[in-house]
Amino acid sequence: MRILSIETSCDETAISIVDASGGLLHPKFIARANITLSQANLHAQYGGVFPSLAKREHAKSLVPILTQALTETKLLKKRTRPEITLALQKKLVELFKHEPELAAQFFEFIPLIKKPAIDVIAVTYGPGLEPALWVGVNFARALAIVWDIPLVPVNHMEGHIFGSLADRTKAGHYGIAPVTFPALALLVSGGHTELVLVKKLRSYRLLGKTRDDAVGEAFDKVARMLGLPYPGGPAISKLAAEAAAQGVTSFPLPRPMIKSDDLDFSFAGLKTAVLYAIKKLGHELTQTEKLALARGFQDAVVDVIASKVAHAAQANKVRTIVAGGGVAGNTQIREALTRFAADHAITLRTPLPELSTDNALMIALASYSLAASKKFKNPKTLKAAGNLTLGR
Ligand code: KG4
Ligand code: ZN
Repeated sequence: MRILSIETSCDETAISIVDASGGLLHPKFIARANITLSQANLHAQYGGVFPSLAKREHAKSLVPILTQALTETKLLKKRTRPEITLALQKKLVELFKHEPELAAQFFEFIPLIKKPAIDVIAVTYGPGLEPALWVGVNFARALAIVWDIPLVPVNHMEGHIFGSLADRTKAGHYGIAPVTFPALALLVSGGHTELVLVKKLRSYRLLGKTRDDAVGEAFDKVARMLGLPYPGGPAISKLAAEAAAQGVTSFPLPRPMIKSDDLDFSFAGLKTAVLYAIKKLGHELTQTEKLALARGFQDAVVDVIASKVAHAAQANKVRTIVAGGGVAGNTQIREALTRFAADHAITLRTPLPELSTDNALMIALASYSLAASKKFKNPKTLKAAGNLTLGR
């Protein structure tokens, strides 16, 4: 089964073309093309992702990236006469009414190429920034209609879970090693902070989530307060490591909700505590103060996450922990999870570097079992769902 997957939920525009085989127990994937265009540099001036800019950039980039993916896979075959009826063209103009720039590129390119040998189109339909999601969803819908190819909507968080479960057998070749259930998924990114119980593959229960800011968002906002660039996570993490190396101790900060009975998180208060600390110092921060605050903030985040993961894992007797999303790349968080997993005979699964940040390959991986069980959606009616969750 050849899958074309599309991801536009945040600030990465991504397309992959993947050959999937081997059935659901031992799936095998060959990434024929896997292209990600990050907009992070453009959003840096805003200190976070600016939704209308993200939408515009996705609309600009999708046709060029698709062209590149089809070229790399030798699936691009020109035709001499465009083949698209006036009635169909009218329908597509209506479908693209909020993305005129994408529509223009679409009509200049798609009618002039032959239908490629693709069996399924998979697209992220949520959760994420709704204006950004819509661009990918509408692009996928239009391709599915013109080429008459089945369309599979994919939950971005399920994409991260599959992304974290994938192993690489050789360059471009991936498998999903068997998982011992129940598993606990820790999904932490710029938009999400969730603990999900995975009872078996595709069976989810939401155990806890953030009540305000996502943890990555808190990293980004605190980074801004410290005068660090976006994305803030890696910048804070680097400063915290410098602090440790220089013997600069952590600035004391609260650990919000660490003792609460539930598995929810809250990071807004921690962010505000940093803001008050900066105000109270009352002067331009010295480098040592920055180091102490970065280290103190990261310590607080790691403590809260490690404590919630431990509670969730023990209460549900999990055998595997699956960490996914950009923040799961944080060295301190990984170390804390590794220690906990080793102490409790739990297997920890973390993503390969190419599957850590948002990408389309993880969407293809997650779509395979959906496509195999024919979980197709009508391309005329598929909608983006910004607040989609995994399980309840
Ligand atoms: O999963 P991702 O690439 O995109 C989505 O938000 O879906 O995650 C990006 C987020 C940003 O907020 C970034 O600051 C954070 O992940 N991040 C980190 C690290 N690397 C990225 N946070 C903490 N430590 C890191 N090393
Ligand atoms: Zn993500």
